[in-house]
Amino acid sequence: MVARPALRRAIPSSRTLLHAESRILRSSFSTTLQSQQKPNNNNNSVPEYAIPDPARPTHFGFETVTEAEKRERVAGVFTSVAESYDRMNDLMSFGWHRVWKDHFVASLNPGFSPLTSSSDPRAPQHILDIAGGTGDIAFRMLHTAHILNGNPDVRVTISDINPAMLSVGKQRSASLPASQQAALSFLEANAEDLTQTKPLGANQVGYSPTTGVPDESVDLYTVAFGIRNFSNIPAALREAYRVLKPGGVFACLEFSKADKHPLFNTIYKQWSFSAIPLIGQLVAGDRDSYQYLVESIERFPSQEDFRDMIVDAGFVVGGQGYEDLTGGVAAIHKGMKPRRK
Ligand SMILES: C[S@@+](CC[C@H](N)C(=O)[O-])C[C@H]1O[C@@H](n2cnc3c(N)ncnc32)[C@H](O)[C@@H]1O
Repeated sequence: MVARPALRRAIPSSRTLLHAESRILRSSFSTTLQSQQKPNNNNNSVPEYAIPDPARPTHFGFETVTEAEKRERVAGVFTSVAESYDRMNDLMSFGWHRVWKDHFVASLNPGFSPLTSSSDPRAPQHILDIAGGTGDIAFRMLHTAHILNGNPDVRVTISDINPAMLSVGKQRSASLPASQQAALSFLEANAEDLTQTKPLGANQVGYSPTTGVPDESVDLYTVAFGIRNFSNIPAALREAYRVLKPGGVFACLEFSKADKHPLFNTIYKQWSFSAIPLIGQLVAGDRDSYQYLVESIERFPSQEDFRDMIVDAGFVVGGQGYEDLTGGVAAIHKGMKPRRK
């Protein structure tokens, strides 16, 4: 994933961004190798826009709201959809979300991967699945690591801000093999501040509400279809950087832009804006949440802008920094926390 010849690293931005999710222009950053520079992620240089501020304007779908209001309304959306979430995903995407998730997990190859902070690909791994919801990514991670790669020393923590989503995940996890259940933990936490966490249930991996997720404790940080819902994405990226070990990998699967294919894009948008809220209304009895879903996809930054936000948080990326799926309807972004020299 991290192709060495084309590493990118951030040059600290001097601009103050008005909105936490403001697009970071590609031209603001060097795209050449800057391997001698220190990443800008340290306590002295966290830019103002990456510090959560409940009163700062951001957006909730097409509406402008404060960061605090977005958090509250996003909580309302996922509390409302939690029970129908898995069924709706299949209906809305014609099952494509499964293909994207399978590919995402296969590309990370948990349990046998040179993309870990350790030099031994079979070393124990701690995977933190942020905004993990009902567990789709975490369950795939455990299956790949324990069964396909025969590495039982991989443990996964599903972290989510919403206890209703976690609770559905916990119920679903009851059908996993006992060894996988034993390697799974659930954590209630806001991705923008992982120093405050609340374990869900008895089977935990050592986190407590007071200590949160420790610095440099995670080998692989994943977030699938979650990050566009965050009130302050730069803050979450910096938290990802903090909790990852040097050499650890940030990996994000998210809806993206299909605008490189204009005809396909027109049909896709037509479908999204007309059919998805309607399906939400008919199947889940909740049109508004699914209207938010399509609007939030529209408002999420382009592949290049999001890649630059990842670089701005201190990660190095390989090549163009992302992989388009289904013409850009979704995209995978990856970044590595640089190893210490
Ligand atoms: C669309 S679901 C994705 C769930 C799962 N990752 C998947 O791919 O099926 C988005 C999830 O993001 C969570 N979320 C939203 N804001 C969050 C935040 N600030 N911190 C952590 N999780 C958050 C929601 O509660 C919800 O479970």
